[in-house]
Amino acid sequence: MSDKDLSNIQIPEAVRPVRPRRSVLYVPANNSRALEKSLTLSSDVIIYDLEDAILPSQKAEARETLRAFLKDKFPSDVKSSAKEIIIRINSLSSEWGSEDLLAARAIMPSAVLLPKVSEADDIIEVNDALVEMDTPPELRLWAMIETPRGILNVASIARYARTPGTRLDCFVAGTNDLIKETGVKPQVGRPYLSNWLSQIVLSARAYGLDVIDGVYNDFRDAEGFERETLDGRAMGFDGKSLIHPNQIDFANEAFGIEASALEEAQDIIAAFAKVENADAGVIQLNGKMVERLHLEMAEKLVEKSKLIKE
Ligand code: COA
Ligand code: MG
Repeated sequence: MSDKDLSNIQIPEAVRPVRPRRSVLYVPANNSRALEKSLTLSSDVIIYDLEDAILPSQKAEARETLRAFLKDKFPSDVKSSAKEIIIRINSLSSEWGSEDLLAARAIMPSAVLLPKVSEADDIIEVNDALVEMDTPPELRLWAMIETPRGILNVASIARYARTPGTRLDCFVAGTNDLIKETGVKPQVGRPYLSNWLSQIVLSARAYGLDVIDGVYNDFRDAEGFERETLDGRAMGFDGKSLIHPNQIDFANEAFGIEASALEEAQDIIAAFAKVENADAGVIQLNGKMVERLHLEMAEKLVEKSKLIKE
């Protein structure tokens, strides 16, 4: 671990921005048509990809295409789209990673997504490089968990989110790479992947990170996609990685906030706001026990709901 790793120090959780991340669409950085379309789509997040979707021979050109595209669009078109804009770079150990990171520093997206994170050091290295480039803290880091070592180390990777000055906000499960690296067969219901996906969710929750499920490759199979998306919701993910625009609406719905949940959250906030409950740690509401932790959850939910534009 680098000198700057202070992960043994227990400090309060960093305050991370609350954002809806129901639908997270990949867009290959060299596909001009998809780039143009991307900002008009209703996904909460767009990941412009310089990594797996781009052949080695096209990496440099894809980077320049993306740079030119986003230069035209920032800040007005991007701001009005109200999306989080993420750039997935190649890993720093590859021949393209440093140039990708420099380009991201210049563009200043919402976050940089690091592929194939296998230990906390992989993030610390990028975090340190961003500090050296005087990068404002608004540029955040997301991490793909998609290697066998990434799964084995996922709790310690998530724990890095407690380090002062960390930019780590979100995990993205990389199911295609996991399948490739482990030999697990892609199957309906993901019987052998589920354990690992749950490890990712649990570790993210333990340290206050958001967490996004992997992609469903067969984008013409709506039924299979919907089943897997609901499965991801039930597992506790915040949203789903998507590869095609026709997957956005269902993901937004599946990971959306139900009217009844919003109402309940508003009731909890109103109940704790009453003078007689000012010092209460726990109260009863409609016959159910409600604690301060539920108030915290309710406040987050209401904040998130305000950011969702239908
Ligand atoms: N983002 C934005 N627009 C997209 C898109 C995406 N991911 N995928 C497709 N589109 C657009 C197409 O450009 C097309 O636009 P048009 O109406 O202006 O012609 C429209 O949606 C319909 O696309 P379609 O013809 O059904 O698919 P396609 O053959 O153009 O593309 C893929 C299929 C799989 C190549 C494409 O969806 C894709 O590249 N997805 C992302 C892959 C990726 O990034 N993988 C890495 C992470 S796993
Ligand atoms: Mg991958």
